[in-house]
Amino acid sequence: MPGAIYAEGLVKTFGDVKALDGVDLDVPEGTVLGLLGPNGAGKTTTVRVLTTLLRPDSGRAVVAGVDVLKHPNEVRRSIGLSGQFAAVDEYLTGRENLTMVGQLYQMSARDAKRRSVELLERFNLADAADRPAKTYSGGMRRRLDLAAALVVSPPVMFMDEPTTGLDPRNRQGLWDVIQELVAGGTTLLLTTQYLEEADRLADDIAVVDHGKVIARGTSDQLKQRTGGERIEVVVHERDRIADARGILSGHGAARGAAADVAVDQHTRKLTVPVSGGAKLLAEVIRDLDGAGIEIDDIGLRRPTLDDVFISLTGHAAERGDTDTDTDAKAGAKADADTDTTLSEDQS
Ligand SMILES: Nc1ncnc2c1ncn2[C@@H]1O[C@H](COP(=O)(O)OP(=O)(O)OP(=O)(O)O)[C@@H](O)[C@H]1O
Ligand SMILES: [Mg+2]
Repeated sequence: MPGAIYAEGLVKTFGDVKALDGVDLDVPEGTVLGLLGPNGAGKTTTVRVLTTLLRPDSGRAVVAGVDVLKHPNEVRRSIGLSGQFAAVDEYLTGRENLTMVGQLYQMSARDAKRRSVELLERFNLADAADRPAKTYSGGMRRRLDLAAALVVSPPVMFMDEPTTGLDPRNRQGLWDVIQELVAGGTTLLLTTQYLEEADRLADDIAVVDHGKVIARGTSDQLKQRTGGERIEVVVHERDRIADARGILSGHGAARGAAADVAVDQHTRKLTVPVSGGAKLLAEVIRDLDGAGIEIDDIGLRRPTLDDVFISLTGHAAERGDTDTDTDAKAGAKADADTDTTLSEDQS
């Protein structure tokens, strides 16, 4: 039986660009799927198809038990969406924006007001509640948009890069809100560039690249595939890099394979995937010290999204993309900084 969000073979082409090249997804009810991928991978396009804003060329999707292509209006009644680009009315105040959404969803004026106050507090917007949204900073707009998506708690929620542009405190605040929402039974599909975010929130992660799901699993499973943790060392003198490399390769997960150690000559930083954690870190420090290699910095870190990408696709997330992707990226950045209500209601 398909989950609360189900997609099969979604294909969408824009001119020469195959934005979706056969996307399959299945999100069980009450769980969170993190859709992870670099710029231009097809995340927003997937969300737009699933939220009825865009018709795919082929494929099938079922959300909250309803066929997305056959009954889009019915699907809309069961979902909430927070898009990548804030969709607030900039002439209304924060408070007015939220009460308006409540009333659109048939809440009583009183309930809509109460819910707005709650959300304005929650998203640290209480002080700015009665200013027009056009006076808000980028991060404030972002938060207002997220608050608007949470006025009602629909059974299925979509959030496209919800925390991009938020400072650490507000990001943490949003994570708390999301966790409450899911504890209340909501099914959530969330796109993100941050493995850490997917880590915190997602039960399951789908990595997309070039319109395809290229890996699927829990965050731990994905990290395992990328070789677990890494030790990073910055050596003080450039001419000791080769010696340090020898020592690190002896401790790496693929012992002795020097190619396993990534070296950045410019920053004098060496990185090696390891399995062994803090104990191994102590050994490496001892060995480097024993060889008289002075270090500026050393640490153990978990794989980043970039590590996952390099290991899955053989190229870094930011590199090797087409011109279209570069444009999309530049556009996304510009739009995140301004107030464009791009694409959410077009197509
Ligand atoms: N309306 C459109 N017209 C033409 N090309 C489009 C359109 N929408 C998306 N694309 C292209 O489809 C591909 C996937 O875009 P999409 O917005 O889904 O990527 P994304 O994964 O959300 O990227 P980002 O991380 O930058 O938000 C990109 O190459 C993009 O340029
Ligand atoms: Mg996007």
